[in-house]
Amino acid sequence: MVKKNACIFISGKGSNLKNLIKKTRDYNFPINIKLVISNNKNAQGINYAKINSIPFLIINTKKRGFENLILEIIKKNKISLICLAGYMKIISKKFIREFRKKIINVHPSLLPNYKGLDTYNRVLKNKEKKTGCTIHFINEKLDDGKIINKKFFFINKDENLETLKIKTQKLERLAYPEAIIKLYRNR
Ligand code: GAR
Repeated sequence: MVKKNACIFISGKGSNLKNLIKKTRDYNFPINIKLVISNNKNAQGINYAKINSIPFLIINTKKRGFENLILEIIKKNKISLICLAGYMKIISKKFIREFRKKIINVHPSLLPNYKGLDTYNRVLKNKEKKTGCTIHFINEKLDDGKIINKKFFFINKDENLETLKIKTQKLERLAYPEAIIKLYRNR
């Protein structure tokens, strides 16, 4: 199969990146990771790019015009899908317009509930019965684009922030690759 070129944006640990790299080894997985972009020079996830010989770029978001630079590089590398994987930076409306329907994100809650930050804390405080993760398209509003895939689990009485995070991220490892497969199956 002809795989599409993807770019993964990260800011931190990179466990979703690690998992997606593993999935790309499957002949039938629809994407290849052509590039990794991090806005944090200390992101642990950069190591996964390094050890798998995937080109990576560290960008300084304080520099004017940094998004134009990313756009240029992404076009040059013929990237057709951008996967945000723990990328903790808001993407500008201009960038989203340029790349409409080609940027997807993983969020640690069952959207449309608990958009934004601090999701685990808010879920626990509100004594929710279930939570999970969502893979969705990016649009101009925060955590608002069309949902591609969701997975949930029931919250136990003795659950804490750490167990919620572990369980949610375990589901992310299933939900993200599934969402990418779904995207190309429907095209
Ligand atoms: C993931 O759990 C993801 O849902 C969350 O950051 C984590 C990154 O983990 N994303 C957001 O909160 C976006 N609003 P990773 O760096 O190990 O993939």
